Amino acid sequence: MSIANLDSPCPPLISKAPTKLPPTAAVIFGATGDLTHRKIVPAFYHLAKNGLLPDDFAIIGFARRPKSDDDFRKDLGEALQKFSHTKPVDGKVWEKLAAHIYYFQGELDDSEAYKRLSEKLKKLPESPKIGENYLFYLATSPEYFGPAAQNLAAAGLASQHDGTRRRLIVEKPFGEDLKSAQELNHTLQAAFAESDIFRIDHYLGKETVQNLIYFRFANSIYEPLWNRLYIDHVQITVAEQVGVESRGGYYDHAGASRDMLQNHLFQLFTLTAMEPPASLDAESIRDEKVKVLRSIPTPSLDFLQKNVVRAQYGGGYINGKALPAYRQEEKVGHNSLTETFVAARFEVDNWRWNGVPFYLRTGKALAAAFTEINIIYKRPPSVLFAASGDDRIRRNALRIRIQPNEGIGINFNAKVPGKAEAELVEMDFLYRSGFDHYLPEAYERLIVDALIGESTLFTRSDEVEEAWRLVDSVRDAWARQTVRDLPLYACGSMGPVEAELLLEKDGRHWIQPKELAT
Ligand code: BG6
Repeated sequence: MSIANLDSPCPPLISKAPTKLPPTAAVIFGATGDLTHRKIVPAFYHLAKNGLLPDDFAIIGFARRPKSDDDFRKDLGEALQKFSHTKPVDGKVWEKLAAHIYYFQGELDDSEAYKRLSEKLKKLPESPKIGENYLFYLATSPEYFGPAAQNLAAAGLASQHDGTRRRLIVEKPFGEDLKSAQELNHTLQAAFAESDIFRIDHYLGKETVQNLIYFRFANSIYEPLWNRLYIDHVQITVAEQVGVESRGGYYDHAGASRDMLQNHLFQLFTLTAMEPPASLDAESIRDEKVKVLRSIPTPSLDFLQKNVVRAQYGGGYINGKALPAYRQEEKVGHNSLTETFVAARFEVDNWRWNGVPFYLRTGKALAAAFTEINIIYKRPPSVLFAASGDDRIRRNALRIRIQPNEGIGINFNAKVPGKAEAELVEMDFLYRSGFDHYLPEAYERLIVDALIGESTLFTRSDEVEEAWRLVDSVRDAWARQTVRDLPLYACGSMGPVEAELLLEKDGRHWIQPKELAT
């Protein structure tokens, strides 16, 4: 983790001995919400447990309902028991942390509340040591992102030029299309410096996602083969077994294209396709990621009609448990045409990737939960083996498992002992046996980086906008279609048959995940 050297910004992604984080008051907007309970406070707890939080640290929960500090602490403590990814919860660590947690009642769109907040921040017991160094975390529903930033600025709490740290973390969704994302960028940048805005994509906080840069650029054996001369195509899958659960209200508006494609899939895509950055600093890495997106021309309507598939889950069973059809989920319209699955083929029009398709797919209520990047190499010249009658020579594939069973596998053709034929075998690296390290949750890493002002693992404004340009083109194409219905897929399947055909028409097929191997 890049948490060590707080004086000089240490190179991102490079491990240094951890020391304490800077004294800060962290204000969480949306403090009574799900994210605070499930992810944010458990992340702070683990930072405290790992000795990273200084004593001069305070967490202020900002929310609408009246609540005492004690009740707030009690709620968070109960949630921690449930959601902590390490068990048992260390009571002493929690008690010590809880003593620095406060509750603040206010309406997000009430400018007076922010003035009161400003006063409160100056009068906390920890304030003399913290100074006016603040981290504001917008874990609210997205319509409040802009107003909260404006109100913070009006109350004098936003970016300052007096040496104090004023940083803003913004959760997703960042806009709902290009236009709204541009407006939001504009509003946030009027209040905070771009370098103080930290747009969350929690996939970037995952160790295995960060490892993509190491894997590609810290080894000499893969990079020479990482291009159109050797790679046939790339598959990126983020498959979930869960349905929309209690988030129907949000999801029915978002769909898989906004919820997953625009952010998590494109992040995996750009890290896979980017050129080596000039250095490992945040801007160099993000420059390269943006260049990938810019190299994808806005697809034509005709291309999109042939190369994008959307579908929705009907009912079915997953692991013996019945799941309702999407349209029967809570807060979902009975005639909803929202996609819960999307698969698409994109092409990166640059020197390295010309002619290499990237197939992306994501869906809910699928047969298995896994996130993988598969690099499929070109078929070797088959003169030798085909001539001797063996048609089993297959393409090599590099399987990068982001989750679960985090690791990397490479398969190759090997001679079956005693026979004159080949079979694909796999060499496998597994994180859990390769490393004996604590694997932090994505949110721990992201909060640390925001506290020390390290932006690499956050999305930059131009990156977000480029991703929306592409997702907008997909959604515009859908909007022009007068469909009465979407293809349905059974829960517990790997999506609709149309997604299989997307690859079959190109003479390819989706790689079977290990999770489904029989
Ligand atoms: C979130 C999406 O950003 O990512 C959810 O809003 C999705 O719909 C989740 O379930 C997946 O994250 P992870 O870390 O469980 O793969």
